[in-house]
Amino acid sequence: MSNEKPEELPSEEELAQLSRDELVRLGAKLDGVELVEYPDPWPVKGTRAEKRAERQVAFWFALAGIAGLAFVVAFIWWPAKYVAPNEDGYFMYSLYTPVIGVTLGLAILGIGIGVLNYTRKFIPHEIAVQQRHDGGSGELDKATILAGLADAGNRSTIARRPMIKRSLGFGGGVLGLALVALPLGSLLRNPHAQSANKDGLLHTPWQHTKKDEKVFLRRATANDEISLVRPEDMDAGSMETVFPYRETDTHEDWAKTILRGDSPVMLIRLRPQDGARVIQHQGQEDYHYGDYYAYTKICSHLGCPTSLYEQRTNRILCPCHQSQFDALQYAKPVFGPATRKLAQLPITVDEETGYFISTSDFNEPVGPAYWERRS
Ligand code: FES
Repeated sequence: MSNEKPEELPSEEELAQLSRDELVRLGAKLDGVELVEYPDPWPVKGTRAEKRAERQVAFWFALAGIAGLAFVVAFIWWPAKYVAPNEDGYFMYSLYTPVIGVTLGLAILGIGIGVLNYTRKFIPHEIAVQQRHDGGSGELDKATILAGLADAGNRSTIARRPMIKRSLGFGGGVLGLALVALPLGSLLRNPHAQSANKDGLLHTPWQHTKKDEKVFLRRATANDEISLVRPEDMDAGSMETVFPYRETDTHEDWAKTILRGDSPVMLIRLRPQDGARVIQHQGQEDYHYGDYYAYTKICSHLGCPTSLYEQRTNRILCPCHQSQFDALQYAKPVFGPATRKLAQLPITVDEETGYFISTSDFNEPVGPAYWERRS
């Protein structure tokens, strides 16, 4: 095999002497590329039009930076905790989602428009025709390609436009910060901070705080009527949504209870033929009362309300991502993304009043996983 180079190719010494411009043209020629047009967008430097174009690009990058900063601040500090429409602070709470949506959207839009503007106004719009060929790249190809890239960078004139560089750095940097804040921002808040005890996620309003306390199963009604549930209120194969209620609860206590995400429970009365087929979870054999079973309504996947009970199949369905739980097998997941069973509430009937009561809190956290969760 001969090491001779074709005649038209420069030697290594000649190659080292070539200027960037010459390398660009040589590379184009060797690749069969014909540069039909390669105009400089600003042949006269420093004109007012050029400076105006520069300011326009910088404006969009700066806007992206300011919007990105606003997003980070709002995402972390804006009051995001639920406030009911008739309570103080509702207005600010109701703006949370629009504010983070608009600010993040503006930040991304600003970067996008800035890059588009820069490309349109400062990058030479060459017209080139290239013949494609097979095979890998040799040293010559690599050198000419690098020169081409350096030339493109040089012709983009970005190096001598500090205003655009700084605004792009600001906008891009803050947008990057915003993208980091999205997954990490929630970790800055202590989820236990608003809880009365540090194990707040382990307990729900069904927790018995006093000895011999009776926590009844109460329906949510449109008025203040206290509607407790007795076994004879439910037909076989039916389901009720219930919340914890203590006789000492005031109107305000009740209002807080039904707003808590971990309060709602599905009370299910199985049909007798289904009740006979139930498989109890080990350690939870006495959690049910006859054919009555109570499961948290909070999906173990991502926390949506699993509000649908299908009597025919005894499946509890979560509408968010279609997880299904088998009510005949301690609500273990049988379909969909959920991997843990729904927590079961231990219930019985109060001998004195005949109403359902819970005998304790859930024996495990309700809802999706969190870092400290062991089960
Ligand atoms: S939240 Fe229930 S399936 Fe995803």
